[in-house]
Amino acid sequence: MKDENCLTLAIESSCDETSAAVLRGGRELLSNIISTQIPVHQKFGGVVPEIASRKHIVNIMPVIDEALREASVTLQEINQIAVTYGPGLVGALLVGVSAAKALAFSLGVPLVGVNHLEGHIFANFLSSPELKPPFMALVVSGGHTSLVHVKGYNHFALMGQTRDDAAGEAFDKIARVMGLPYPGGPQIDKLAREGNPDAIDFPRALQEKGNYEFSFSGLKSAVLNYLNSSAQKGCPVPKADVAASFQKSVIEVLVSKAMEAVKETGMDTLVLAGGVAANSSLEQRLLDVTALHGYKFYYPSRVLCTDNAAMIACRAFYQSRAGFYSNLYLNAVPGLALTDIEN
Ligand code: KG4
Ligand code: ZN
Repeated sequence: MKDENCLTLAIESSCDETSAAVLRGGRELLSNIISTQIPVHQKFGGVVPEIASRKHIVNIMPVIDEALREASVTLQEINQIAVTYGPGLVGALLVGVSAAKALAFSLGVPLVGVNHLEGHIFANFLSSPELKPPFMALVVSGGHTSLVHVKGYNHFALMGQTRDDAAGEAFDKIARVMGLPYPGGPQIDKLAREGNPDAIDFPRALQEKGNYEFSFSGLKSAVLNYLNSSAQKGCPVPKADVAASFQKSVIEVLVSKAMEAVKETGMDTLVLAGGVAANSSLEQRLLDVTALHGYKFYYPSRVLCTDNAAMIACRAFYQSRAGFYSNLYLNAVPGLALTDIEN
């Protein structure tokens, strides 16, 4: 069979989205069904792992059925099964991994275990079919903040990552203390549009040249201190200004480190990935800065920024083309690191 006819059925269940997608070849997306659990977790202010696992069990088969129906493809036509096996919540991952193994075994087709972070990067190949490695990727999600030098489809070098909180986690925590619903990122994004980003001078960590690590815990504490001391003084809290100033602090660090990494590695392309890629100010700032320096810039469409199985299918296609399959002993790996297959 020719590569471009290969049908991949992919499953994603690493956090609070149950998703299944069907992809033909590497870039022709036939369906991408996402069942979000956000309303379920909202009343707890964040994802409750045990509830997430239970919801995945309930949702997974209907979501797979829907993905096949929308793609007008039968299970018997599927050539390979892809699944996220890490990083993520162990109980949530296990639901997807178990379903994928059962399908691969019963259909007699190969299984491809996919790294969720790599999936986020590959979402860009679906949004921008002309994109090819090498490039620099800034991965910003609820669980990760990393700069990855993508040297080839299966060849990655981690330039740096966060020492503590991920960017999305910082958005979610700040939103929570400001009384905004989960997930906080989109809420802060919206509120920040009404505020002054220069109103409060929040800190920016690890700014020394050549340092590609991130840290957002100091910023988080500074925002919490500001909110507490305003409350103690009985001053009204300028929530929109806090949101805008906090967001500016995060974005400046992300942008300056990403640009330095592009320059340092001699790349001409920057790619944005992960849930925080949906942030309108981050996208705009990177559009402006990359244009100023003459670099190409790509970011995924909104639906492909946050968790989805389409990106997992795309990653799986390029893994399988390089002969990198999993066996039926595949297990969930909550702390999975990037896999450099070609090195
Ligand atoms: O990639 P993702 O769906 O899940 C993980 O792999 O973690 O990312 C979810 C994260 C959440 O922290 C959410 O608040 C953040 O992405 N997010 C945003 C925006 N939309 C989602 N953060 C800032 N601005 C947004 N517009
Ligand atoms: Zn994610």
